[in-house]
Amino acid sequence: MPVDRTTGASLANMKRRGERIACLTCYDAAFCRVLEGAGVDVLLVGDSLGMVLQGHSTTVPVTLDHMVYHSRCVSRVSERALVIADMPFMSYASPERALAAAERLMGEGGAAMVKLEGAGPAVETTALLTRYGAPVCAHLGLLPQSVHQLGGYRYQGKDDDGAAVIRADALALQDAGASLLVLECVPAELAAALSAELLIPVIGIGAGNRCDGQVLVLHDMLGLTPGRPPRFSRNFMDTGGSVSEAVAAYVAAVRSGAFPGPEHTLF
Ligand code: KIV
Repeated sequence: MPVDRTTGASLANMKRRGERIACLTCYDAAFCRVLEGAGVDVLLVGDSLGMVLQGHSTTVPVTLDHMVYHSRCVSRVSERALVIADMPFMSYASPERALAAAERLMGEGGAAMVKLEGAGPAVETTALLTRYGAPVCAHLGLLPQSVHQLGGYRYQGKDDDGAAVIRADALALQDAGASLLVLECVPAELAAALSAELLIPVIGIGAGNRCDGQVLVLHDMLGLTPGRPPRFSRNFMDTGGSVSEAVAAYVAAVRSGAFPGPEHTLF
């Protein structure tokens, strides 16, 4: 491992130093080189690839084979960033499946961390995976893999009871050994409070700008998403210039706290 490779520990140091973490989704070698060249800290091989690459309306059809393939495409050329691979729908529905999925994503896919959605059984799974040496990124708030249960892509934790559940789940996942937490579509006040309370870095998406870092779906921030992109996102290509310049502008805006601005903060 090169000495300057980003790790869970180096991200925790960034949090302690008050340096914001820039994360983007990445699904292939070409974009991996561009994103690392522009200074992105974390490359998330997200199961959002089911929507942005494969054209599905949800992430549910994404398989473990798809995730292993795209993780390998990224990790093969990655030199510096932390590569995190999403565990797809149902791939962690039992301890055995979770261990087998992490084995493939890290062994064949070359990821250095795996991400799983939710709490409940995912707390035990997080403890199991970390016990066997697989670092875990947790994911709370809007859980895209549960869209059919949620009935749509909606903000979560908007009332006191919902916020209390997310807080309790976040603490449980940290205690279980999670190295990072992605908070998706929750009110900015809740995300700010959790970023202050948790020791692990909190990476927000649609969660205001007082998180320890930000993540966006690459195709949203490059203006490649058909129709209307999510209102919490920003098209960094809209001022012209190259893809590299757009990604560098995103990294600079995350580091300075300029992104997300008030216009991207809905609750
Ligand atoms: O799959 C994905 O891209 C994600 C981000 C939205 C955080 O999980």
